[in-house]
Amino acid sequence: MTNRTTNRREFIETVGAVGATSALLVNGRASGSTSAASSPQLAIDGGTPVRSGMLGSGPYGTMFYDEVEQQELMDVLRSRSPFRHSRGKVVQFEREYATHIGAKFALAVTSGTTALYAAMAALEVGPGDEVILPAWNWYADYDVIVLAGALPVFAEIDDSFNIDPADIERHITPRTKAIIAAHLEGCPCDMDAIMAVARKHNLRVLEDCAQCAGGQYKGKYVGAIGDIGINSFQLSKTITSGEGGAVTTNDPALYERAVRFHDVGITGRAFNDVIGSGVLAGFASCNFRMNEFTAAVLCGQLRKLETICSSLRANAKKVREGIADLPDLKLRRSGDIEGDLGMRVFLDWGNRERRDRFLRAVRAEGISANGPAGSVILPVSSRIANKSTIHPDWPTFNTPEGKSIRYGAECCPRTIDIINRYGGVTIGPGYTEQDVADVIAAIRKVYLAMHTT
Ligand SMILES: Cc1ncc(COP(=O)(O)O)c(C=O)c1O
Repeated sequence: MTNRTTNRREFIETVGAVGATSALLVNGRASGSTSAASSPQLAIDGGTPVRSGMLGSGPYGTMFYDEVEQQELMDVLRSRSPFRHSRGKVVQFEREYATHIGAKFALAVTSGTTALYAAMAALEVGPGDEVILPAWNWYADYDVIVLAGALPVFAEIDDSFNIDPADIERHITPRTKAIIAAHLEGCPCDMDAIMAVARKHNLRVLEDCAQCAGGQYKGKYVGAIGDIGINSFQLSKTITSGEGGAVTTNDPALYERAVRFHDVGITGRAFNDVIGSGVLAGFASCNFRMNEFTAAVLCGQLRKLETICSSLRANAKKVREGIADLPDLKLRRSGDIEGDLGMRVFLDWGNRERRDRFLRAVRAEGISANGPAGSVILPVSSRIANKSTIHPDWPTFNTPEGKSIRYGAECCPRTIDIINRYGGVTIGPGYTEQDVADVIAAIRKVYLAMHTT
């Protein structure tokens, strides 16, 4: 037995007792909770669970719906003017959102996906271009590259579940145009390192903030750091109008192209104050305009954004502190833990089997828990591995030299390993002190049981 193991055993014997004591205190304060201290046996093995029901969190934004959103919606109904106009809610939301995150421009659109389309157009991504994106990400990031006629190139993630800046460089070719930095599950990317690679190779950076609205990196809001950012206000995001999205940038040319792309190539009167009639020519484009009702809800939700973020952060911090003394503990890394939203607290279990055992056991204790979620290991998704498109002759997947790119598990072994190793507990912005204490008690109980067996 090594010294480390001996120390760990001793620690577990001591801390196991301390953990039980704190759980007793915790449960002593809660009438509804059962005592983990009186039942060190895991609930999954027939012991008494930490909680009798399941503690989890619903979509954050809707939890905070109240008369503020109601009033904003009534304003639009009463106005009988639901279409975007220059003194309406969409323009108000764009201004307030841009100001909030410290970007010069924000453009409201119908979803995070359409925001990505507009961002691709703004960056002039097209046939012959390559875009580097993380292998763990949402489908839309891959799809918009393919549909722009460009080639998606996958980079590995690191233990933050975000793109590994050290893996980006080996994928850069003379055709690389942009890098997608997606801040996933509330965790900001390591933006300094990503921007350094991008600037060195003269590449554009698109920040996908769909899973990180309100997140910050070194005091700056995500979405205002790279060349262009996108956000989503779909149901599962930090704030929500059911569906909705935004493009953000400090660059007037990128903004104007996004504006034109989202509204049949024109700039329109609603943009007169910001860019007048614009300086660029129009081009083939879409209709991704946001309506006034959606923006009304978002105007209300924006006022709740900081409350949601700070509650999540505070609760996640307490959980991290409550388990910090556990032996050999390895938590998910963050690009900036202070700016991280703290939607989950993830632990590295070493392999999938142990991770799944933890998830089953902690859920049996009444605490919602999952592996990394909300994204997909894209290269192994069958439609991506097979490069399926609506048109069988789609030329995207061949480089100009006629070489066909290969996807599948072989292009992201590290990503697959990381995604399989981590398991984490859900954090809610509405958790009480007792809820947080129960989360801590459940993790400690399961962790210590798994480290003694
Ligand atoms: C990282 C990421 N990007 C983009 C999107 C697309 O957003 P939407 O669903 O609003 O189209 C999502 C949605 O889940 C996402 O998680």
